[in-house]
Amino acid sequence: MATDTVSMDQIVSLCRRRGFVFPSSEIYGGLGSTYDYGHYGVLLKNNIKARWFEAMILERDDIVALDSAVILHPRVWEASGHVEGFTDPLVDCRTCKLRFRADKLEDSQCGRKPSKHPGGTPECDLTEPRQFNLMFETTVGPVKEAGAKAYLRPETAQGIFINFKNVSQLARRRPPFGIAQIGKSFRNEITPGNFLFRVREFEQMEMEFFVPPADAERWYRYWIDERLGWYLRYGLRRSRLRVREHGPEERSHYSQGTSDIEYLYPIGWSELEGVANRGDFDLTRHSEFSTTKLEYVGPDGERYVPYVIEPAVSLERIIVALLVDAYDEEVVGERERTVLRFHPQVAPVTAAILPLIAKDDSMVAKARSLHEELRRRQSVEYDDNGAIGRRYRRQDEIGTPWAFTIDEQTLADDTVTVRDRDSLAQERLPIGGVRAWLDDALEREWRTPKGD
Ligand code: GAP
Repeated sequence: MATDTVSMDQIVSLCRRRGFVFPSSEIYGGLGSTYDYGHYGVLLKNNIKARWFEAMILERDDIVALDSAVILHPRVWEASGHVEGFTDPLVDCRTCKLRFRADKLEDSQCGRKPSKHPGGTPECDLTEPRQFNLMFETTVGPVKEAGAKAYLRPETAQGIFINFKNVSQLARRRPPFGIAQIGKSFRNEITPGNFLFRVREFEQMEMEFFVPPADAERWYRYWIDERLGWYLRYGLRRSRLRVREHGPEERSHYSQGTSDIEYLYPIGWSELEGVANRGDFDLTRHSEFSTTKLEYVGPDGERYVPYVIEPAVSLERIIVALLVDAYDEEVVGERERTVLRFHPQVAPVTAAILPLIAKDDSMVAKARSLHEELRRRQSVEYDDNGAIGRRYRRQDEIGTPWAFTIDEQTLADDTVTVRDRDSLAQERLPIGGVRAWLDDALEREWRTPKGD
């Protein structure tokens, strides 16, 4: 029987058990809400980035790539409004010595046992809220002196805006066109938590799409649909995704319209990705602060400051959504199995190559040779460790869609068995045709057996 709900604890435990993600600095006691990615976590991340890059850049003619610096000129963050306004209200509890976001007290746990919400017991003694800037400060150069203060970027977007002139000239682009980048961002969140959902260091994938102002609303709607379509394409269930438009009071200072693509995480409906119409706020502010005009000038002298439509997401939020959506437990032939039903194009390992009997030199030789052939093009894994049933279950747990088994019949007629992770169906095919079969299987449309 397939399970439809999974807890964050089950996801954390699987990630740890299988080496996707584990707490960082563990031998020093850990550093709260900071994580390191192991082998399968890195493969999963790389696949998600590759699918995003394909959809944003390789499959289109109107978006180009950028990789800007993490530490930018400090004036960038004055112009963007982050120095003044990128703050959360913070309260301290004088009793339990913990800190909370004043606007999220209902979602926080008090430090006293039995735990209540901060302010929920007579002993709670909360300070007045004060504004706390979320940017991490650092010093450029060896001396902490005036003018040496800089920030780790809290979003990748500003690196794009300040390169508008470079890119539009060098790449010879005119609106509508976009600039996309993937990179680490840093926020000193007051209350990080829920595994990777809210962390202090995360990898953003952002794209700034520059359009004529009159077309902004149409492109805003277009990008909401595109991004929703991308999640459906990679297997997230429709019933677990929704679009929520922000009311005027909820919008950021730069926004003329924002919609969240929300996913039904174990913590409830929460923001997966944001799509915003940033208007001309950023280019105008950087023009003012840098005194470099950031505008579009057409061949006939037409000039305007483009509006910006921005889809922005972190890999971390996608990873949690994919894991939650893919996680399944079922009983097969009286045995339980945990399986990650990932889309084959995001699964960390595409296929496992398994010699049925590890001590049989002929089987091992054939399996090794198939592995050598496939590994040049795909992420494949050779495994001869333990009983075949255990090896299948290990692959199920990391979400490998197919396993090729080399057995006695292979030695006789050069055919192998391919086992499908989801249906558990097995078929035989010639060993020489495995490469083409795999290429073909990866291109087939895939839908999760968990339904819509
Ligand atoms: N450039 C616009 C921007 O950064 P945002 O809504 O603050 O907007 C964009 O962030 C996306 O980055 C969010 O939708 C979410 O996917 C991700 N994100 C933001 N803060 C995060 C955090 N602390 N941990 C993990 N992901 C985060």
